[in-house]
Amino acid sequence: MDLSRILEKAISISKEAGEYIRRERQNFDLSLVELKGTNDLVSYVDRKAEKIIVDQLHGLIPEAGFITEEETNTTRGEVYNWIIDPLDGTTNFIHGIPVFSVSIGLQENQEIILGVVYEVNKSECFYAMRGGGAFCNEIPIRVSAAPDLSSSLIATGFPYNGLGQTDAFLNVLKSLIDNSHGFRRLGSAAVDLCYVACGRVDGYFQHNLNAYDVAGGIIIVKEAGGLITDFKGGDNYIFGGEIVASNPKVHPELLNVVREFW
Ligand code: IPD
Ligand code: CA
Ligand code: CA
Repeated sequence: MDLSRILEKAISISKEAGEYIRRERQNFDLSLVELKGTNDLVSYVDRKAEKIIVDQLHGLIPEAGFITEEETNTTRGEVYNWIIDPLDGTTNFIHGIPVFSVSIGLQENQEIILGVVYEVNKSECFYAMRGGGAFCNEIPIRVSAAPDLSSSLIATGFPYNGLGQTDAFLNVLKSLIDNSHGFRRLGSAAVDLCYVACGRVDGYFQHNLNAYDVAGGIIIVKEAGGLITDFKGGDNYIFGGEIVASNPKVHPELLNVVREFW
C-alpha cells in the first residue's frame, strides 16, 4: 500500500471538505441547528462534509471500513478503518467562533497509521503518517521544549456530558490554575492535539471523547515527538474516551495531576 499517496489524497479531501464548511459558515442560519443529544449540536453542514469525505475515501483502500460521527457509512473493515470527524468544533461553528476542523485518521489493526486535521479558519493542514514525521502546511512540526508543568500552557475540553466526573475535572483545573501558565478550551479536540504537536500548547487532557475526536490528531502528536496515554498511563486512548497528550518532559507531571483527582 502506498501510504504517501493515500496521505496526499486524504489531505486534499480534508481541504475540500474544509472549504465547503468555510463557504457554508458565511450564510449559516441558526434555524438549521438540530440537537443530537443534551448540548450536542449538529447541522446539515456536518452531514454534507462527511459525505464529501466518505465518498472520496471510499475506494482509496477498497477493504477499509468507516467509523464516522454522522454514520454516513457504517461498514467496518477487518484490518483498516477510516475514523472521521467531518466537523470537530461544531459548537464553535454554529456560534461563529473560529476554531473548527476536519479530522481524518486511518487505523490499521489497533494502531493509527495516518492522520490529517485541517483547521478551517487558519487554513492550517496538520498531517502525519507512521515513521514520516509531522507537518503543518508542509513545514515540519515538533512538540514544545517546556521543561515542566509550571512553565506549560495546557489545553482541555469540556464534554457535553461530564458522566458524573465534573468535580474531578474541576479539581484538575483548579490545580492547573495554580501550577501552570493556565489552560485553554479551544473547542476542537483535533485542534487541541495538533496544537500540542506544533508546540503552541504543552499538553492536553480530556475525558468522555470519541475515537473520531482524536484519531486524526493522535499520530500527528506522536510523529511530532509527543507522548499520549489514557488517564491511567496506559494505551487505551483511541476508544477509551480519556486522553493525556503532551511533550515528553511535561507528560509525567500532567498525568500525575489528572490521576491525583480522577
Ligand atoms: C467536540 C469537540 C470539543 C470536545 C467535545 C467534542 P464536536 O466535538 O472536540 O472540543 O470538548 O468533547 O465532542 O461535537 O464538535 O465534533
Ligand atoms: Ca468531535
Ligand atoms: Ca463533529
